[in-house]
Amino acid sequence: MHIGPYKLAGNLLLAPMAGVTDRPFRVLCRRLGASLAVSEMVSADTALYGRRKTLWRLDHQGEPGPIAVQLVGADPAALAAAAQRNVDGGAQILDLNMGCPAKKVCRVAAGSALLRDEVLVGRILETVTTAVDVPVTLKIRTGWDPQHRNGVRIARIAEASGIHALAVHGRTCACGFSGSAEYETIRDIKRAVAIPVVANGDIDSPHKAREVLACTGADALMIGRAAQGRPWIFREIAHFLATGRRWREPSAQWIHETLVGHLQDLYEFYGEHTGVRVARKHIAWYVRSRRDAVAFRERINSSCTRRQQLGEIERFFDRLATKGDRAA
Ligand SMILES: Cc1cc2nc3c(=O)[nH]c(=O)nc-3n(C[C@H](O)[C@H](O)[C@H](O)COP(=O)(O)O)c2cc1C
Repeated sequence: MHIGPYKLAGNLLLAPMAGVTDRPFRVLCRRLGASLAVSEMVSADTALYGRRKTLWRLDHQGEPGPIAVQLVGADPAALAAAAQRNVDGGAQILDLNMGCPAKKVCRVAAGSALLRDEVLVGRILETVTTAVDVPVTLKIRTGWDPQHRNGVRIARIAEASGIHALAVHGRTCACGFSGSAEYETIRDIKRAVAIPVVANGDIDSPHKAREVLACTGADALMIGRAAQGRPWIFREIAHFLATGRRWREPSAQWIHETLVGHLQDLYEFYGEHTGVRVARKHIAWYVRSRRDAVAFRERINSSCTRRQQLGEIERFFDRLATKGDRAA
């Protein structure tokens, strides 16, 4: 699949997830088979760009290209200015967030709340695509509620406004994360436009990936929650799509090494104090289906230094090796 001048090496993308897809996680997922990893959303309000949290989000040092930055906002001029600022900061693809149902985002009529206002969507897209000379992509939901699935109309507006690719999460804004993603609307969107369409929502296994590709005809898949604690899911799915055979299940030792490498990157990126705290949720995701995961999580949550955290992990994986793997 192409996004403007960029030919992606495969058709599996890491979904943007605020609080999850920071630079260390993006780099790890790219190494393990994701062809593109979109940043956590960054505000269109550039007055916030000096804040520490935003500085982390704007940091792309050493990240493999193409570097994709997601912007969230509702004001066309502010989004255009933020787009230019991010291009100056290294963004090679800009992604616009019209898919986030978070109250904090929708309260200011940004994220998926924008889908209610098709005229404003058109203005935003035209203003941003005109303001920068890198490709601009768009992420949407299928509509704002099940009675108003206007994803096809939004997709046509996107195409007419010069958007280079469209990612669609198969739920409406009102649905939040409840129920199951539906893929018929994504299929309809794919049939309605010529730009690449990326299907997203509940893709959590190689079989599901094959099913969603077949049902939607999408050019690529975007994976979010299933990559948490399982960043090798991209390799797993790519192998299955290419060969029809399952990728070998990684050994506990390989997972241990992958986790420790991930944590070292987090400590380095955020510094020890914040790194240890950001690491807690990732550690919990890596071990969630393992024996004794609950008690282990409690110990991890009360460890405050890098040394304690790595020591707990060492002991956990040692026990796994001697007592066996899976949760009861
Ligand atoms: C913790 C979390 C944070 C998210 N943050 C963003 C975000 O910053 N921008 C965005 O467009 N979508 C965001 N999403 C939505 C995901 O990109 C994705 O569309 C959604 O999780 C469905 O895909 P999945 O079923 O593969 O997780 C977030 C989702 C989660 C779970």
